[in-house]
Amino acid sequence: MDKHQHTRLYFLSICIGSIALVFAISRCSISFFDYSLQKLEFSFPESELRRSFYNAGDENRAVDSRDVVSQQILSVRSRNDTKKKKLNRRRTVEVGLSKARASIREAASSNRNATLFSVDLPNAQVYRNPSALSQSYLEMEKRFKVYVYEEGEPPLVHDGPCKSVYAVEGRFIMEMEKSRTKFRTYDPDQAHVYFLPFSVTWLVTYLYQYNYDAEPLRTFASDYVRLISSKHPFWNRTSGADHFMLACHDWGPLTSKANEDLFHKSIRVMCNANSSEGFNPAKDATLPEIKLYGGEVHPQLRLSKILMTSPRPHLAFFAGGVHGPVRPILLDHWKQRDPDMPVFEYLPNT
Ligand SMILES: *[C@@H]1O[C@H](CO)[C@@H](O)[C@H](O)[C@H]1NC(C)=O
Ligand SMILES: *[C@@H]1O[C@H](CO)[C@@H](O)[C@H](O)[C@H]1NC(C)=O
Ligand SMILES: *[C@@H]1O[C@H](CO)[C@@H](O)[C@H](O)[C@H]1NC(C)=O
Ligand SMILES: *[C@@H]1O[C@H](CO)[C@@H](O)[C@H](O)[C@H]1NC(C)=O
Repeated sequence: MDKHQHTRLYFLSICIGSIALVFAISRCSISFFDYSLQKLEFSFPESELRRSFYNAGDENRAVDSRDVVSQQILSVRSRNDTKKKKLNRRRTVEVGLSKARASIREAASSNRNATLFSVDLPNAQVYRNPSALSQSYLEMEKRFKVYVYEEGEPPLVHDGPCKSVYAVEGRFIMEMEKSRTKFRTYDPDQAHVYFLPFSVTWLVTYLYQYNYDAEPLRTFASDYVRLISSKHPFWNRTSGADHFMLACHDWGPLTSKANEDLFHKSIRVMCNANSSEGFNPAKDATLPEIKLYGGEVHPQLRLSKILMTSPRPHLAFFAGGVHGPVRPILLDHWKQRDPDMPVFEYLPNT
């Protein structure tokens, strides 16, 4: 694997990781407590499930056209079998999830020494339970599958900006759709979450009419949800709770207001993760904003291990005018305070 690929995988893993984590602690934790784990885990041994999944009879579809009665019976039976197969695949997903939960709980209670994780979690002490986090990450790598809806046309869907401040939006869509990622499944019955691959930045670019009215964006999002919820059974099954949208543009939250369930139940993965905009840490996930000038990751950033271990005591990001209550305070506090970190009110022209 070359470095470039490595960085991309690493980046995707982080995004997927936060989605998986939110998924695990929000919707799944409901079933976490209701399913008696042991009951599920041991009454459907996985090997048996797999066997019935692969062996269940496609051969029943070959019917004798002369015998209408037996044809009807057979077609009913084969419909039953298809249903059963679907059901089995859903059960395999549930069984996998319950195993993941069991192993996370075990790791959490064993509370392994945090120094064990120094490679993957350099600052393990900031996590409430580093063992649980590390284990859930491993389980995510092993199992987590995303189904990406195919409805919709570029540029609004299946495309996004890969340069500049909203790059992360397009990159995520591209990496889910164009690169071979192990996190994508084409079988919706094997998915843990469902992705609505529209780009809010492109909605703003193509639909916004410079009239302070974001209505066209909301109309689009609400139509998209209506489309996938009438064409597929998955949205209605959970009112969208196992679906996610992703946006780096500030108008992500606004766009998600298009649909009650999208706003209140779905996982919204957003750079604009402000509680004032309705961000709900119990179900939504934050997305880091990365500015890529030319669409390329700087070679220095690819050597992420080196950067990770070098001491970096300050992290600062500041853009835009001095408005709102926080910025003047920050400016007051940091301006000309530290020669290593020049802070300007306005950038010098040079
Ligand atoms: C199909 O399944 C239903 C309910 O599980 C059952 O009542 C019915 O007898 C089955 N039909 C066939 C042809 O196996
Ligand atoms: C983990 O191990 C290190 C070194 O062996 C030790 O200094 C540290 O106190 C241990 N931490 C915990 C939480 O047990
Ligand atoms: C999901 O629910 C909506 C609204 O209740 C309905 O219009 C739609 O047909 C349902 N979808 C499916 C696949 O049944
Ligand atoms: C975030 O929330 C604060 C406090 O409600 C508000 O002052 C600020 O304008 C919000 N920022 C954005 C980008 O929405």
